[in-house]
Amino acid sequence: MLYLGIDLGTTYSLVAYMNDHGQPTLFPDYHDANEFRTPSVVHIGAEGCYVGATLEGILDDEPELSQARFFKLQMGKPAAVYQDHLQRTWWPQALSALVLKKMLHDVEAFAHDEIGGALITVPANFNDAQRRATREAAQMAGLTHVKLMDEPVAAATFYGLNRKGAEQTLFVYDLGGGTFDATVLQAGDSGLYSLATEGSNQHGGIHVDAMIMDFILDEYQRQHGIRPNDETSLMILRRFAHDTKLALVKPGKTRVGKTFLLGGKSIEFVLTRELFHQMIEQFIDDTIAVCQRCLDAAGLDWSFVDTILLTGGSSLLPLVPEKLARISGRPVDQLVCKQPHQAVAYGAAILAAQQFGGGGAGPKLQSICAYDLGIRVMGKDQQPTVKVLVAKNTPVPASARMTFYTNRADQTRLIIEAVQQRDTSTGLEENSLGYFAFAIDNPRANYPLEIELAYDLEGLVVITARDPETGRQIRQLMDAQTEAMDNALLAQQPWVEAMRINP
Ligand SMILES: Nc1ncnc2c1ncn2[C@@H]1O[C@H](COP(=O)(O)OP(=O)(O)OP(=O)(O)O)[C@@H](O)[C@H]1O
Ligand SMILES: [Mg+2]
Repeated sequence: MLYLGIDLGTTYSLVAYMNDHGQPTLFPDYHDANEFRTPSVVHIGAEGCYVGATLEGILDDEPELSQARFFKLQMGKPAAVYQDHLQRTWWPQALSALVLKKMLHDVEAFAHDEIGGALITVPANFNDAQRRATREAAQMAGLTHVKLMDEPVAAATFYGLNRKGAEQTLFVYDLGGGTFDATVLQAGDSGLYSLATEGSNQHGGIHVDAMIMDFILDEYQRQHGIRPNDETSLMILRRFAHDTKLALVKPGKTRVGKTFLLGGKSIEFVLTRELFHQMIEQFIDDTIAVCQRCLDAAGLDWSFVDTILLTGGSSLLPLVPEKLARISGRPVDQLVCKQPHQAVAYGAAILAAQQFGGGGAGPKLQSICAYDLGIRVMGKDQQPTVKVLVAKNTPVPASARMTFYTNRADQTRLIIEAVQQRDTSTGLEENSLGYFAFAIDNPRANYPLEIELAYDLEGLVVITARDPETGRQIRQLMDAQTEAMDNALLAQQPWVEAMRINP
């Protein structure tokens, strides 16, 4: 049996397994045995569907070809992010499913065993809808035995592979293509326990690329008096900005100067490393602030941290270790950065073998939830507010129960809306999980309803509503079926039928 660890990334996706020597190993691309990453990019046209490196190769010659990228960032949003040649629209999970299918094709080409399970990693800061969309993608790709796991847990697992011994506090700084996670874990022979996690969906390599794009566009404007904004020009520019970044971070490189054609005009620019660092300084500082919040949430300071682990391709930006060293008060060479591109996939392969193959053997794993989980209720002042039942950073699985009451005596149903929320640097981020209705057969004042909110092991939410008088119960996953009900309910102003905390 083959157990797969899959890093389904914003920019690159990887698939790994444990070889006969107990080492995590990546599967190569079907068409190129030297390529071990699949760029997460999809094109669907009359001639077929192209995914990954093959498509990147075609784009070198045909940059105007339609393409879907970075759809991981849209996961969980009920919206089309790509239109194919037949004007069919594609949701992010369907595109992710195509990336998964492509990788399964790679696996089939190299392995002879049957797939016994796949462990797919997600950012620790993925909410319920994002996790659910990832599961849907796996299902669409035909994977039957699937587990989700937080990316920093996978990275920490890989770090711990050959490192048995004393308990230690690990800090994982994971700056990837589109997301940033900061996580504190307790690691040792007894297991791996997450203590706190914080993150941002606005911090990743693509955001750095966007800053370079803006810089080049400003230069273009100065030289030609206009700013190209057609899709093809922007796609060409994005790839160019990305290459410029990778050139600039090479050791010893102090400047990149280039001339190229864009929108039919030639553009010339020079970007020094110094200016590049000025450009991204605030951005890196933002990630450091997230780290600080994460430590605060765990009730720790840097002196408690034994090991700082850097992972994700963007953690190779030279400013990252520099700033982390400064804030943590330890030398740069004490920061650990081991195969930052592959660490998550390798860790996923180790965990997949343990969880699907080892019959539950292996160290204990304890994840936490990245969001407060609560219910929208009518507050004292008759204003909607969120009553939190499970607080962020609680170990999962977790559940909490509370009794709520009808708002009016003639209320024939209660609308239940579950909400995930967390504080970010820009304020309170709130994600509604959707609504469902619970009918009340014999309405009266202060009719009670018991609500239980639960996180399962994978951070997915389950809601149970129970009428204590009749014993009737609804157990609800917030899936596509509830989403369809949402709009109908919303049109009816659900707050009129909300619940109250006190009788
Ligand atoms: N040497 C480097 N210096 C700076 N950035 C780099 C370097 N190498 C790769 N990157 C950037 O790292 C990003 C890809 O990293 P990675 O593969 O870890 O992300 P991902 O897994 O696709 O994204 P996510 O984890 O956010 O879903 C890209 O934005 C890439 O430009
Ligand atoms: Mg990643």
